[in-house]
Amino acid sequence: MILSVRGLHVAYGRAPVLHGIDLEIPAGGFLCLLGRNGVGKTTLLNTVMGVLAPSRGEVRFDGRDVTSAAPYARVRAGMAYVPQGRDGFPHLTVAENLGVVAEASARGDRSAIDEVLDLFPRLVPLLGRRGGNLSGGQKQQLAMARALVTRPQLLVLDEPTEGIQPSIIAEVEDAVLGLRQRGDLAFLLVEQYVEFALRLADTYAVMDVGRIVDTGPAASLHADDASRLLAV
Ligand SMILES: Nc1ncnc2c1ncn2[C@@H]1O[C@H](COP(=O)(O)OP(=O)(O)OP(=O)(O)O)[C@@H](O)[C@H]1O
Ligand SMILES: [Mg+2]
Repeated sequence: MILSVRGLHVAYGRAPVLHGIDLEIPAGGFLCLLGRNGVGKTTLLNTVMGVLAPSRGEVRFDGRDVTSAAPYARVRAGMAYVPQGRDGFPHLTVAENLGVVAEASARGDRSAIDEVLDLFPRLVPLLGRRGGNLSGGQKQQLAMARALVTRPQLLVLDEPTEGIQPSIIAEVEDAVLGLRQRGDLAFLLVEQYVEFALRLADTYAVMDVGRIVDTGPAASLHADDASRLLAV
């Protein structure tokens, strides 16, 4: 397994938010995690990436226990994260945003930048623009490009379609499909846009307050049923 999460418990102060989460993603696999607002999806991703520490349980990446590894060490090991809200460095240009990551990364180099620009050609004419002056859709593409410059084995995405117009969502979907076809990258995708998630994923998991309540092959879940499951 490229990612195994076992018995993960996480709390904010005394308020428990995750109550024993188990998840597994094989190398090259694609898991989408669905769930209503506030059930703990972002908390789970932050814990997988080392931004939050669990009170119990473990996170293993490619067989190694990374439960107490710092976020940068996880990135260096091959985990990449596109957080919800996608900020990046607003005062740096698009080119500088990508260059900083390439220089800091053990696996990234200038050729990694050319590869991600092939995947997100819309960024090419924007290379001199500051990150903070991009549209929401452009910021999302830059955030994904930054994550991919590290040549990860696992890409963790938190609601990449949130607040983005349909034509850009289609571009993001094409880019993810292109990455999938390479076969060497695994995905952990949190999404509220169920059709998008189920088109891309091979397995799904549904989260309700702090627990995984359902999992299965993505092809077995109809978007209508999923939307009903997620309705408040
Ligand atoms: N820093 C924090 N301190 C205290 N409580 C928090 C903190 N961040 C999140 N929470 C609470 O933890 C719970 C889970 O939040 P989380 O952001 O993980 O949910 P989510 O499933 O990602 O929601 P959404 O779909 O709205 O992004 C919520 O009740 C939230 O209010
Ligand atoms: Mg969230």
